[in-house]
Amino acid sequence: MKKVRWGIIGTGHIAHLFASDFCHVKAGELRAVASRDKASADRFSAEFDIELAFVDYFSLINSNEVDVIYIATPHVYHYDLAKACIMAGKAVLCEKPFTINEAQSRELYDLALERNVFVMEAMWTRFNPVIEQVLEWVEEGEIGSLNSIQASFNFLAPTDPNHRLMNLELGGGALLDIGIYPVFLAQLFFGKPDFVQNQAVIGDTDVDLFEQILLGWESGQLASLDASLISCNPNRATLSGSEGFIEIDSEWFKAKSCRIVRSDNTERAVEFDFPGNGYQFEADEVNRCLEEGLIQSPNHSWQDSLELIATLDEVRQDIGLYYPGESIPSDDHHHHHDEDVHDHHHEHSHHHKH
Ligand SMILES: NC(=O)c1ccc[n+]([C@@H]2O[C@H](COP(=O)([O-])OP(=O)(O)OC[C@H]3O[C@@H](n4cnc5c(N)ncnc54)[C@H](OP(=O)(O)O)[C@@H]3O)[C@@H](O)[C@H]2O)c1
Repeated sequence: MKKVRWGIIGTGHIAHLFASDFCHVKAGELRAVASRDKASADRFSAEFDIELAFVDYFSLINSNEVDVIYIATPHVYHYDLAKACIMAGKAVLCEKPFTINEAQSRELYDLALERNVFVMEAMWTRFNPVIEQVLEWVEEGEIGSLNSIQASFNFLAPTDPNHRLMNLELGGGALLDIGIYPVFLAQLFFGKPDFVQNQAVIGDTDVDLFEQILLGWESGQLASLDASLISCNPNRATLSGSEGFIEIDSEWFKAKSCRIVRSDNTERAVEFDFPGNGYQFEADEVNRCLEEGLIQSPNHSWQDSLELIATLDEVRQDIGLYYPGESIPSDDHHHHHDEDVHDHHHEHSHHHKH
């Protein structure tokens, strides 16, 4: 089997973490990196011993030296870059959120199907051994029937209004960057929710600073989730069932341990002693899928990714948060469609200006 050759687009925060974990990936080779900036491309390739450094993204995308491209740019660029990769026949691992809305994601997955190209959203937490363990416990009925999930993702983001997280033009805000994780966890167990409610706080730069989300399922499950760019939190996840509960330790989305406490008071803790940050597991999954000739991962499928972004779309619609270029629905509930996008949410009842 030929070694899978990887290329990375972008040399920012997550690109560094991914590249530093690559030595723990079972197979494959980090062969190329592309940056908008020559110095940054050179620095990155030297730091991680990468043979090729491209000074524009499209030279990498069109190069014959790579098989799969990891996209590690701000959210708003994922769509164009992933599309170009698919058109060039390159497999894609694209940072989350795959795109900023469901319509864009659907278009790209349709294109990937048509072109027979592998694509996966980089929902790395799905491949963490702790999540695999929790899935197994729930499937085996260890906590009876799972009926509720609580999960948080909070951290203190840079307050610089130009930082990608505070900048609406770059797809900023808590929901798409970190709210996606607790929603992912709830949907991993319960699927797409039947009810979505939320409260959000919008900041000075018009991005969502924090929100609490309540999801409900007709079949009788609830999830209470929150995301914040301005709060400190242990970031635990608890899964409650009729015969016990599971706690994923702080911070749950990259945890190395979890425990189960049953209603008969028996308790079991499990620890995984893996090296690095845990980004190696998503890369292993991509290599495995490519080797098996798959165009999507059965463990984080296109449908999973679409259902995730659909819920985030619903939350954003409810809080009146739209990114530049998105069209605003014009039904009764959202009757401010002829106003400026930025004024729209100021009048909405579901959020508070920070
Ligand atoms: N999986 C995770 O744990 C995790 C963690 C953090 C972020 N992420 C995701 O990864 C993506 C990137 O986040 P990050 O924190 O790595 O961001 P970052 O540190 O700002 O890096 C983003 C990189 O994208 C490139 N880029 C292209 N156009 C840009 C623009 N107009 N402004 C800024 N950068 C631009 C830059 O690379 P060049 O200068 O080299 O071209 C930059 O270094 C986001 O979609 C985010 O959701 C995932």
